[in-house]
Amino acid sequence: MNQLLLLNGPNLNLLGKREPHIYGNSGLDEIENEVRMLLQKHGWELSSFQSNHEGELIEAIQKSDGKYKGIIFNPAAYTHTSVALRDAISAVDVPVIEVHLSNVHNREPFRRESLLAPVCWGQISGLGAIGYSVAAHAFLEMHKRKDG
Ligand code: DQA
Repeated sequence: MNQLLLLNGPNLNLLGKREPHIYGNSGLDEIENEVRMLLQKHGWELSSFQSNHEGELIEAIQKSDGKYKGIIFNPAAYTHTSVALRDAISAVDVPVIEVHLSNVHNREPFRRESLLAPVCWGQISGLGAIGYSVAAHAFLEMHKRKDG
């Protein structure tokens, strides 16, 4: 069965109570359920992992090779700092969509730069929780076009 990995970085375990005016009211569980239900309708499965530790996120990416059709990844603050996560994404043969709940382009200047976006398939920013579902749709569509 086709599988996607939903990967979330630091502080995203606090979604729902963390600065809701910026990140919305949905908890990570709700977002995960929404994406899982969407994928189930198409016969796909979702695995989900959140970590506040860079090394754990790197290991999840390393282990994804050959297992997942794609990774929906909100790297949170590591977006702007992590050469190691960028190298991990480059090292595997799994397409990654970088997702941000907030619009990183209309916030502090340091959030505008992503070290990861250049090695990702695409980036979605500013759509709130909807962004994760949009990413899932993109992977479904990509495979439909590949197989069809
Ligand atoms: C974020 C944006 C990042 O700049 C920030 O550090 C986060 C969340 C977002 O989803 O909007 O933790 O990735």
